[in-house]
Amino acid sequence: MNPVLEEEYEPRRMAKPFHLRRLDPPEPEFAYEIRPAVAKDLPDVRQIYNHYVTNTMVTLDTDTRTLRTWRAKYAYLSKLKLPFLVAVSPSGQVLGYALAEPWIQKRSYRFTAEESIYLRPASTGKGLGKALLSALIDAGKQAGLKQLLAVIADGGAESSIGLHRALGFKETGRMGRVAFKFDRWIGTVMMQRTIK
Ligand SMILES: CC(C)(COP(=O)(O)OP(=O)(O)OC[C@H]1O[C@@H](n2cnc3c(N)ncnc32)[C@H](O)[C@@H]1OP(=O)(O)O)[C@@H](O)C(=O)NCCC(=O)NCCS
Repeated sequence: MNPVLEEEYEPRRMAKPFHLRRLDPPEPEFAYEIRPAVAKDLPDVRQIYNHYVTNTMVTLDTDTRTLRTWRAKYAYLSKLKLPFLVAVSPSGQVLGYALAEPWIQKRSYRFTAEESIYLRPASTGKGLGKALLSALIDAGKQAGLKQLLAVIADGGAESSIGLHRALGFKETGRMGRVAFKFDRWIGTVMMQRTIK
């Protein structure tokens, strides 16, 4: 009998019968906790936001934010008792954040806030945005807010528009070609939700 040449050898023949094979380990569950941000979350928050500044039009900021800027915003929102939430994985990694800040700094506007929400790219499309924005709406209510606004780029931010619509935000206006980033003009969509 001829010996089997190496290139003729078919390892599949050696595989165990189906009922004896071990199943692939299950995908790790996408788990997170939503809680108020604390100062040690800010480096992660900064990293998440700056990714979108540098690579996308979903924020119309052109300059990355420093940790110092984030610390100042955190202190300001804490002083005003406005919500700043993070979603954190079981290992402690910040997966995303959402916050509400004054829309116009006049006392008459104190019941109205502009919110923003940003997730790590790997954490998008799995329902976290909905959970985090819902938690922010609840926290906004606890803080006494009556109106939440979102100002969203009118190109490339379909997931954000879809998320806000899914949570009861209504489009209240559009402004065309008001910002210029990555060598092109872009407009904004304003969305609003009453908190009851
Ligand atoms: C926008 C963002 C927060 C949404 O969070 P998410 O976890 O990806 O969204 P979810 O999986 O919770 O989806 C919630 C709803 O949003 C809508 N949605 C999500 N992705 C969408 C898409 N690509 N197009 C249209 N609608 C979309 C759907 O209505 C969805 O509800 P459904 O799954 O029940 O149909 C997240 O994708 C993100 O951080 N994107 C980059 C940063 C950003 O755009 N921030 C907002 C700046 S204004």
